[in-house]
Amino acid sequence: MIFRQLFEPQTSTYTYLVADEETKQALLIDPVVEEFESYTSLLNALQLKLVYTAETHVHADHVTGASLLREKLGSKSAVFAEAGAYGADLLLRDGDVLQLGSTSLEVRHTPGHTAGCISFVGNDRVFTGDALLIGGCGRTDFQEGSAAVLYQSIHQRLFTLPPDTLVYPGHDYNGNTVSTIKQEMAKNPRLGVSKTKQEFIELMGNLKLPYPRFIDRALPANKACGREASPLRG
Ligand SMILES: [Fe+2]
Repeated sequence: MIFRQLFEPQTSTYTYLVADEETKQALLIDPVVEEFESYTSLLNALQLKLVYTAETHVHADHVTGASLLREKLGSKSAVFAEAGAYGADLLLRDGDVLQLGSTSLEVRHTPGHTAGCISFVGNDRVFTGDALLIGGCGRTDFQEGSAAVLYQSIHQRLFTLPPDTLVYPGHDYNGNTVSTIKQEMAKNPRLGVSKTKQEFIELMGNLKLPYPRFIDRALPANKACGREASPLRG
């Protein structure tokens, strides 16, 4: 498997390139529209063909590059069927598998940050979007978020993965790049095994987070899979 972790600094978003060595088929998880040029350069340098873009959820902080990549490179945009987005080429459901040659990613519904959040489970790793972050988790105060639901998702659908599974999140604001299920179970201050569901719900209810900077532009654009996207910066 070919793998790259890519970072968009304005919104601290991680995008992941996953590709199959033999067939040269590639997939981008959570591409950011402003990073289009860097994706195409990387794909060209590695001589890869972008087959899919896949969203972990309808993002509130950045606009997906799915539509621009589809238009320019012919990739198919994939979103969860119940994510609340329209115009995708592929509607994903829990248990579906995205196949690139002998490399595959399984769709796992992990709601709570939004009702339509999914994670992608590969052989030795999981891409958790904004469900499970390194030492944290996505906020649950908008987009049908629910702390109770997120707690269930993380404990029942992510913490049940093999302990050494690598955790690649959708964001990190502190320079962390990768964790493991074992590490998050032991050390995540919100969700580690020492925290009860009730403690988590109370903690999430008291975060007092600011209104997201780009939500009014990002949400409508992402509901259209980025089709109405214009870069947020510049
Ligand atoms: Fe999000």
